[in-house]
Amino acid sequence: MTIVVTGATGQLGRLVVEALLRRGASPADVLATGRDTDRLRALADLGVRTAVVDYADPASLRDAFDGADRVLFVSGSEVGQRIPQHTNVVEALRSAGVGLVAYTSIAGADTSTMQLAAEHQATEQMLRDAGLPLVLLRNSWYLENYTPQVPTYLEHGAVVGAAGEGTVSAATRADYADAAAAVLLDPDATPGTVHELGGEGFTLADLAAAVSEASGREVAYRDVTEDELAGILAGAGLPDPVARVFADSDRGIARGELEVTSGDLERLIGRAPTSMRQAVADAVAARS
Ligand SMILES: NC(=O)c1ccc[n+]([C@@H]2O[C@H](COP(=O)([O-])OP(=O)(O)OC[C@H]3O[C@@H](n4cnc5c(N)ncnc54)[C@H](OP(=O)(O)O)[C@@H]3O)[C@@H](O)[C@H]2O)c1
Repeated sequence: MTIVVTGATGQLGRLVVEALLRRGASPADVLATGRDTDRLRALADLGVRTAVVDYADPASLRDAFDGADRVLFVSGSEVGQRIPQHTNVVEALRSAGVGLVAYTSIAGADTSTMQLAAEHQATEQMLRDAGLPLVLLRNSWYLENYTPQVPTYLEHGAVVGAAGEGTVSAATRADYADAAAAVLLDPDATPGTVHELGGEGFTLADLAAAVSEASGREVAYRDVTEDELAGILAGAGLPDPVARVFADSDRGIARGELEVTSGDLERLIGRAPTSMRQAVADAVAARS
């Protein structure tokens, strides 16, 4: 069985390739794709096949999907460019007649009002319209959206956000990757299945408390408005549109749009996902 992983040169995709191998896939059956040739070489060191694929290059997509039984379609990372790029991916998947497509979407994509969800909604619709045998992996937030900021939280004694008392069901990339690998290797994976994936929910006040507990230093949650957060993030060096998307995502968290209570992640990976407290403790330990 040939399994193609797009975005394999990225952080999530590489973890999917590793999880496929750990779960018993033969390296010769895995085709890892991306644009970055250095990172493709590092993947080839795992024994898997590799190919340069650019979502903007339909021929590269057609070549990669030719003969594929299953494809993990990792959403592109160029927000705003995804629709034309994803259109190419969907067309190539359709003409290759792939047996199963798993797409990494966002939690609650069908109802989410978050700016980030719009391109996922459109992509899900394109995949459905193409009549592809589709499994949706609707991932909530990455814990890694927070853990690299632990030094900043400690420096300022604060987690600053605009999420109010909203709950976010963030999980590690490794756990989402393991879930994707489980689906790709499941002989009974059923087209039409929607997995709403997320870890144990927490508020940003809980996140601040976990940083305090792990570090022994006082860190509090400071709730600001969406506009204030966008300004703070832009002031810290993020490009204005990116700062606005992050601030809008906190608005989504405040509305409960990244809260997932399905239990799908735990069911797919066969264990409890890594908790926020564990991930924070690891991040605090890693800096000392
Ligand atoms: N749930 C969340 O909290 C969250 C957070 C951030 C991102 N995301 C989404 O999840 C996806 C995977 O996350 P990640 O952390 O693995 O992101 P990442 O490390 O930035 O990796 C993105 C991957 O997509 C590939 N890619 C981007 N544009 C492409 C194009 N035009 N053609 C071919 N490949 C392309 C990149 O390939 P090259 O590097 O080789 O060009 C890379 O392999 C992201 O792309 C984004 O859509 C979700």
